[in-house]
Amino acid sequence: MSKILIVYGSSTGNTENIARLITRGLSDAGHDVTLENAANVKAAGLAKGYDAVLMGASVWGDTEIELQDDFDTFFEGVGEMGLENCRLAAFASGERGYEHFCGAVDVIENRGRECGAILMTEGLRLEGDGSDSREEVAAFVEAVLQKL
Ligand SMILES: Cc1cc2nc3c(=O)[nH]c(=O)nc-3n(C[C@H](O)[C@H](O)[C@H](O)COP(=O)(O)O)c2cc1C
Repeated sequence: MSKILIVYGSSTGNTENIARLITRGLSDAGHDVTLENAANVKAAGLAKGYDAVLMGASVWGDTEIELQDDFDTFFEGVGEMGLENCRLAAFASGERGYEHFCGAVDVIENRGRECGAILMTEGLRLEGDGSDSREEVAAFVEAVLQKL
């Protein structure tokens, strides 16, 4: 059994629901999953004691990537999160019409790499709240499970 931390930032509930679907998938596979809203936690030391960290958020810029407000504040402290040698995967909700579809995935992956994290799989990018994308969520969960 692995200990997994999932942190999400969500304004209208879409990324939150995706986070819940991922949580259910990993929990059903027998892992100990802690789900945190970025609005309620601080980054410093948060990854300590976990075998893997998953982070997800929406973005709200028009031409620039603007991380969801709560996640943006949380993510400012990502350098102190303790991601060195930690397994990491990213997910997001977005809309395909925007230049940076699910741009949070790129931000989380790039910054995570800089912090010494090891990416487990390609980030999950979905439209809406994931309820119409059960297969993509299941494939993402399976890819994470393979790397635990
Ligand atoms: C002003 C505005 C800017 C947005 N910018 C982006 C964007 O750059 N990329 C993207 O994929 N989605 C963008 N979106 C769509 C939201 O990220 C999307 O609705 C998302 O599902 C919201 O997720 P949340 O409920 O978890 O916050 C934007 C929406 C608005 C209203």
